[in-house]
Amino acid sequence: MSSTLKKAAAGFATAALLVGGLAACSSERGGGSTPEPTDGTTSETSDAPEEPAAEVASVGIAMPTKELERWNRDGAHLEALLKDAGFETSLQYAENKVDVQISQLQNMVNAGVDVLVVASIDGTALGPVLQQAADNDITVIAYDRLINDTENVDFYATFDNYRVGTFQGEFIVDQLDLANQAGPFNLEPFAGSPDDNNAKFFFAGAWDVLKPYIDEGKLVTPSGKAPASNDDWATIGIQGWKSETAQSEMQTRLNSFYAGGEKVDVVLSPNDSLALGIAQALDGAGYTPGDDWPILTGQDADQANVLNILAGKQSMSVWKDTRDLGDRVAEMIKSLAAGEEVEVNDTETYNNGVKVVPSYLLDPIVVVKDTVEEILVGSEFYTAEDLGL
Ligand code: BGC
Repeated sequence: MSSTLKKAAAGFATAALLVGGLAACSSERGGGSTPEPTDGTTSETSDAPEEPAAEVASVGIAMPTKELERWNRDGAHLEALLKDAGFETSLQYAENKVDVQISQLQNMVNAGVDVLVVASIDGTALGPVLQQAADNDITVIAYDRLINDTENVDFYATFDNYRVGTFQGEFIVDQLDLANQAGPFNLEPFAGSPDDNNAKFFFAGAWDVLKPYIDEGKLVTPSGKAPASNDDWATIGIQGWKSETAQSEMQTRLNSFYAGGEKVDVVLSPNDSLALGIAQALDGAGYTPGDDWPILTGQDADQANVLNILAGKQSMSVWKDTRDLGDRVAEMIKSLAAGEEVEVNDTETYNNGVKVVPSYLLDPIVVVKDTVEEILVGSEFYTAEDLGL
């Protein structure tokens, strides 16, 4: 069975054995759209064929929510790649509900998938279901977000999350010319969802860059919502990455701390869904693009946010070409199926509380108004029409 799959991942098994493992799995599942062996034999035996058998593995893909544009793109792209490569797939979205995601994973385990690709909602809540996956020798790949507190996660593919944050911090430092200007500038920081392991990396990256200027007094936070240290980031976290929550938090800060005519100069937003809500609050409070609109960061280059960048309502977004992430995960799965070692490029950063998960980190890219066309249209992530260009 696909325990061979795991051994192969660790570099112990031969290609022939591995393919045999997948073949055996597929034949037990039955009912799939791909041909099953009919002669009762599998390539697991010692006289396994040199050439890989034309069997496919089945992959369960668990995505968090359809609410955010990026996850729709992520899921659709990965599913298409895997289908093209001949894998069976089951793609599920969980409406950002942890219990829904757990039951989707349970169903995938019961259906006999060989590999699970999981973009978790709560990275600490999947221990029991991933134990079931391990008991069924299923290989687990954490997608974009690390899964914590379990040994049953085999690989992690993501963008360099800390780098996302340093890009946002460095952008703010450059825009305000903090090396030369005394300020003080009014900064309102936000952080991502406390249950998402990525959020602390985004915050730490940004805070490591910004904190020295806070300590120097060049950046001040009238609302008092500047965490004392990286470890306190969750105190300003926005649960579920919700735009509406970010909007009302920003409204509260504006009403309570800026009512006397003081202006916000800069808002650190970890991603685009928060930036969207924050921009709405700024709009509502009468801020004007090109005049007193503050610097506002983001991440993902979601369409609505790119339109806001073009309209002067968001200053930048850290773009993560989710097609590259899908490509990388598809490569991982193909390596597993071929009995080859899975390529990773980081074996130090992502300790999930039980072990360091072998990871592949991709590079994010900063996009600003002047580079939207070149980067986002040039790469065909969007058409010019999508962006009204
Ligand atoms: C992802 C971001 C995304 C956020 C909200 C994070 O885990 O890395 O790209 O904006 O979740 O969905």
